[in-house]
Amino acid sequence: MPPGLDQSTPAHELAALVGPVDALSGPRYAGLARRIRDLVSAGQLPVGTRLPAERDLAAALTTSRVTIASAYRVLREEGWARTRHGSGTVTDAPGTAAGPGWFPHTDDGRADLGHAAPAAAPQLAGAYASALAQLPALTGGHGYFHNGLPELRTAIAERFTGRGLPTDPDQVVVTAGVGDATSLITEALLEPGDRVLVTHPTYPGALRMLEGAGGRLVPVAVDAARPDDLVEAAHLAARQSAPRLAYLEPDFANPTGARLSASGRRRLAATLWQQGVLTVVDEVSAELHLDGGPLPPYGAGVPDAATVTVGGLSKAVWGGLRIGWLRTDPALAARLGTALVRRQLTVGVLDQLAATVLVRDLDVVLEGRRQELRDRRDVLLAELAARLPDWQVHTPAGGLSLWCRLPAGLSSAALTAAAAPRGLLLAEGRAFGTGHAFDDHIRLPFTRPAADLRAAVEVLAPLAGSLRTDADRAVPVGAATVV
Ligand SMILES: Cc1ncc(COP(=O)(O)O)c(C=O)c1O
Repeated sequence: MPPGLDQSTPAHELAALVGPVDALSGPRYAGLARRIRDLVSAGQLPVGTRLPAERDLAAALTTSRVTIASAYRVLREEGWARTRHGSGTVTDAPGTAAGPGWFPHTDDGRADLGHAAPAAAPQLAGAYASALAQLPALTGGHGYFHNGLPELRTAIAERFTGRGLPTDPDQVVVTAGVGDATSLITEALLEPGDRVLVTHPTYPGALRMLEGAGGRLVPVAVDAARPDDLVEAAHLAARQSAPRLAYLEPDFANPTGARLSASGRRRLAATLWQQGVLTVVDEVSAELHLDGGPLPPYGAGVPDAATVTVGGLSKAVWGGLRIGWLRTDPALAARLGTALVRRQLTVGVLDQLAATVLVRDLDVVLEGRRQELRDRRDVLLAELAARLPDWQVHTPAGGLSLWCRLPAGLSSAALTAAAAPRGLLLAEGRAFGTGHAFDDHIRLPFTRPAADLRAAVEVLAPLAGSLRTDADRAVPVGAATVV
């Protein structure tokens, strides 16, 4: 079980998570409030957990009751706790993530490790050539295809079926990318104030979309070294905060590379379904396994209405293609398809024709992509081991990035800020979390050619040394560039 706690926190367990109060910086009550806030934002103390009575925590931490009362007051004022009638003080998440902003920047040729997005697969141009040849057969019609081009929906449904999730085309809606599918779901299904369980860290675009639709994030810690701990943690978090939605990446999550085992995903899908939580399953990296083979898709074994699976071609083929999809039960698919029609009527037909060619040929496309990513992952791991041996990296069995834990005293924000003028773009750790978490981590994608990865480590190695000696310098929250 992860270091998450049960519904009410025994004082001694919270005291163990907090650690020695003498080590907290600043006034003791403020340091304690900060520590509890960090535990909540890291998902170690789930949102909705009842905090111990002031007297009990004071005894467990051998400090005064006034210190505890003041810390709880600060947490309430900052939105990290609330008073629940009859339940005392309960942890909460503030309405907005305090992480850095999220804006993709224009590709200007600098060594770009800010985006986890590869260059186009070689099959792209051929797919468009074929699409152009097919276009005249469609131009006599009005060009609007409700829920997507029928042949593309069929190809997507067949791919799901082949992977172990039997699917009819009427369960599929074509969207303008994976993020577009997530955004459609949040706009259609989320009411302001609804809670949304998110793995933590997670893809910043999803965090911003969920918040943009008024969702209140409930972070649940995910650790690539122990990915199935998520099952119990998510079960507890769902029980405590009754979320409307959960957003997960079961395979090679961005940024951690964590992958749920076959049994872990089966158990998690069952528990969230039983608790009435609709799960948005982001499969953008699902087929990017670099070691080992595929696992049954998340959602196999629960009713189709338990999940909305979002996927697309942005990582396998190219982000500039802008084709994605969602898959759920037919009634919900129809509802989401109608929401898409209201918003943008349809998705570009030429892109859909090209996507149809690519989805039918996806095994070949993926084979090349996996080989490329495997080679680049290994180059980056070797460079880090040689030049930055005190960075802790879990080797991901797939996906597009390494999630590096920095040595004590090195700030991810400081590193990102110092690397940019040296021509290296990075996405700092805080972009991947709620609150203030993850300044001790950085994501390094292995999507660029080997020479760029070597050049990046060449920039990072001396910076990591020099910035560590200057670790207490305040760092402004910058605009990260994160996909
Ligand atoms: C987990 C995840 N979901 C969705 C997206 C966005 O995909 P798309 O470009 O298809 O909108 C990304 C991009 O990095 C991602 O990492």
